[in-house]
Amino acid sequence: MEKGSFIPFHRPWFSGKELAHVADAVSSGRLMGAGPFAGRCEKLLEAALGCKRALCTVSATAALEMAGLLLGIGPNDEVVVPSFAFVSTANAFALLGATPVFADIRPDTFNLDEEKLERAITKKTKAIVPVHYAGVGCNIKAISAFGLPVIEDAALGLFAKIDGASLGTIGDFGVFSFHQTKGLTCGEGGALAVNRADIVERAETVLHFGTDRAQYLAKKQDSYSWCEKGSSFSPSELCTAFLLGQLESADFILKSRRALWQTYHLALEDAEKKGLAKRPFIPKGAIHNACQYSLLLADEKMRDLFIKKMAQANVQATSHYPPLHQTPAGKRLGINAGPLSVSEDISRRIARLPFWTDMDKATAEKVIEIAHKVLAGL
Ligand SMILES: Cc1ncc(COP(=O)(O)O)c(C=O)c1O
Repeated sequence: MEKGSFIPFHRPWFSGKELAHVADAVSSGRLMGAGPFAGRCEKLLEAALGCKRALCTVSATAALEMAGLLLGIGPNDEVVVPSFAFVSTANAFALLGATPVFADIRPDTFNLDEEKLERAITKKTKAIVPVHYAGVGCNIKAISAFGLPVIEDAALGLFAKIDGASLGTIGDFGVFSFHQTKGLTCGEGGALAVNRADIVERAETVLHFGTDRAQYLAKKQDSYSWCEKGSSFSPSELCTAFLLGQLESADFILKSRRALWQTYHLALEDAEKKGLAKRPFIPKGAIHNACQYSLLLADEKMRDLFIKKMAQANVQATSHYPPLHQTPAGKRLGINAGPLSVSEDISRRIARLPFWTDMDKATAEKVIEIAHKVLAGL
């Protein structure tokens, strides 16, 4: 196949406002965390999401760790997570001494299978951590019905909705990622949505090393001291200044990404009809955020060949999470809640296409043209 110029999997997008905000932060002379830029990002997030409190964190990983600390999760506790997830979804709780219990996912949305959850829950279960895979909301209603604390891993789900509610605002906590590959980014960053009024103050304590420094910074007291377990979870103002430039452009980002998602989706309908690949499934009530576009190939051999042939045509397609229960640490630290065959199957068959906010029409058309040719020749 003819080689065009290289099309990467991802390119960061900049609004143009980021550097002005960073310059303001620098000239203010205040670079440490929890300053005015973090405050502005948090206000924007709270207004857009409708959550009680949003806290900027250094990553979604940090936000997951905060949620674990806030729920008092520790040794002898179990936390149910999907096996088809990022390392941090389980590691955040293993770090606290808890046991991740791997549950299987649904074959349509690749989200936790609520029908298979019961077998994962024991007297030791302290929380359920559903991932909203690809920004497509999971069946949070059914998951919440177990009556256990829910930490929504919405690392990929910012500004997506399920049944009218923003992802990350339905469970006790929601976590978001601003890592470079996400729709909105500051390189490395995250946020914790705290949805329980009774935990807001403690969340600020855990964010600041386990101290009441937030009260001190707000000039409500003259000093601060160590109150409970926490860590250094608050990002520098350099990061939140940058992030503000992205959050201010959230509407444009979402609109552009949804347009690209739709372009791929329509163009690949034919390939799905021919049985060459399956396109993403969006359930009723879910409004996704177009954080990625993936295809499901017939089997692992086809998927690997697809990625290889795309690469030979200079287009970078990628796989996604290896099942956590098959990783060295997952085997050592976790428990399997029954067979995890869907997680294994999806992990072997998924391929993600190049996706970024301002991908131009010609590039999208090139990816589609090459994907069609590769699929037809597998
Ligand atoms: C589901 C999920 N959770 C958590 C994370 C971790 O995000 P971060 O890199 O911001 O810590 C990721 C990263 O992609 C993810 O996919």
